[in-house]
Amino acid sequence: MNHFQTVRPQDFDPIFDRIGKEWMLISASDGSRTNTMTASWGGCGILWNKPVAVCLIRPQRFTFGIVEAAERLTLSFLPEQYRPALSWCGSHSGRDGDKFAGAGLTCLYDTGVPYPAEASLVLVCRKLYADDIRQTSFLDPSLLSNYTNGDYHRFYICEIERVLRAEA
Ligand SMILES: Cc1cc2nc3c(=O)[nH]c(=O)nc-3n(C[C@H](O)[C@H](O)[C@H](O)COP(=O)(O)O)c2cc1C
Repeated sequence: MNHFQTVRPQDFDPIFDRIGKEWMLISASDGSRTNTMTASWGGCGILWNKPVAVCLIRPQRFTFGIVEAAERLTLSFLPEQYRPALSWCGSHSGRDGDKFAGAGLTCLYDTGVPYPAEASLVLVCRKLYADDIRQTSFLDPSLLSNYTNGDYHRFYICEIERVLRAEA
């Protein structure tokens, strides 16, 4: 007998469902181009003694080039009523037009970094470290099924500089 009960990882901290089930918008601007896209993989933690967020972007995304050029990005969480907007941003490309407008969202800027006015929570992030997911680094080869096109994500470890929480 011990005093531990086993809980699912998802029940350990709300961030798991926030990212994985509610999804988030990765938004960035390179000064001339602004874009946002839906993401459901990533995380938050502590690295180099800093609060950090991690997001992963495949190279074919329009967002990829913008995030590469940008120093900062935002990760935004929206109330459930915006699920259709998140689905839209996850299935349309900024190459074809203004994603914020197309999804019915309003783009605001925090010191030049875009985020949706409809968000309930915004992480304003500064890129610290980027690298590519590599085929040769997988210890569990079953995960390679996520990369049948060879489009390995680039991951960005970012310092969470500010958290904007919408007032109720
Ligand atoms: C629920 C959901 C989660 C997604 N997560 C990611 C992700 O973590 N990384 C990624 O590169 N694409 C992800 N996508 C796909 C992009 O959001 C999608 O390709 C989008 O149209 C890219 O837009 P862009 O070309 O304007 O950058 C996701 C899509 C959906 C619907």
